[in-house]
Amino acid sequence: MGTRRRRVSVIRIRSKPVKWDDLRMEFISKCTADTILNAAQALINGHLVAFPTETVYGLGADATNEKAVSRIYSVKGRPSDHPLIVHISSINKLDQWAADIPDYAIKLAREFWPGPMTLILPRTDLAKDYITGGQNNVGLRVPAQPIALALLNKFEELGGQGVAAPSANRFGAVSPTAAEAVDEELGEYLDLDDLVLDGGQCLVGIESTIIDCTGSTPRVLRPGAITEGMIEKTLEKKTENNDGRLEIKVPGLMDSHYAPKALIALNSIAEPGEGFLALSKFQTPVGAIRLASPISLEQYARDLYSALRSADHQGLAKVAVLVPEGPGLAEAIRDRLTKAAAR
Ligand code: TXA
Ligand code: MG
Repeated sequence: MGTRRRRVSVIRIRSKPVKWDDLRMEFISKCTADTILNAAQALINGHLVAFPTETVYGLGADATNEKAVSRIYSVKGRPSDHPLIVHISSINKLDQWAADIPDYAIKLAREFWPGPMTLILPRTDLAKDYITGGQNNVGLRVPAQPIALALLNKFEELGGQGVAAPSANRFGAVSPTAAEAVDEELGEYLDLDDLVLDGGQCLVGIESTIIDCTGSTPRVLRPGAITEGMIEKTLEKKTENNDGRLEIKVPGLMDSHYAPKALIALNSIAEPGEGFLALSKFQTPVGAIRLASPISLEQYARDLYSALRSADHQGLAKVAVLVPEGPGLAEAIRDRLTKAAAR
């Protein structure tokens, strides 16, 4: 166990949400190639590198290094039979990790990668049991975050093939959407040679949509910013219902997950002294402590985890949350809130 690990500031934290292109410009001007090279080299050497993605921060390890991957499990305190998502730099690397890829999965990858979408596909021999939890399929994602992409590209240049990365939080806890939150969650468990790349706030704020592509039609296992509507529009067909079919292990689908210490009460009225989270159009009940006032669903998703985290920082016992209604991103937010509320 380490004491203090190095946090490398790649991009200054900013308070305002920024657009992808702004971020890229800022990245090019501020991020030194050395930082990315050091981080990629650290991965190659078997160390852990936490890095920003557009969804949440990931805790990365060389996906072909069993020892490095086993440290992900111990640092997170996560059961070792839970599968990990392998992050690759582009769709061109898909064949290394996945075989018998259905046409609809290629279509989805072309449409939504780089982006907040993970595809579950039949694995190749490269995806070992210690990545897949012993299943015959593997989760793959190309993230749309300039630091993440630069890191993956450099890592592959140095001979790496993919970076396994779960969300960089302790098992069952709230995912980090800023580097400070990674420190808070995992700092005491990381070694001195591990790194945390600081890329500011994540723009999407909730984890990727996970799509099971092992059957004849796609099935959404975890809702996210790539919505069922978007998938169905791209494929011009319906997705499958998420019950029945193949048994797949998805801890994020456990009843309780993404949970802060504070009790989360859905659609209840906040009493004085309790936390309150809702879209900005809803007034704060008298005496309640407002944790965020998102003006849109996008902002709700982006601010959700930092709001839950701030409830714990303030030592609140309970947070009343008004859950957003409707399909699309609202569904993904409801999914996380329902699990955060489950005990
Ligand atoms: O947005 C994200 O997906 C973030 C960033 C870092 O990419 N990652 C993330 O990883 O959320 P994690 O491990 O916290 O959640 C991934 C979920 C887990 O519930 C895991 O069990 C499931 O995806 N998963 C991964 N590979 C799988 C597989 N082969 N079959 C079924 N489920 C899988
Ligand atoms: Mg997670």
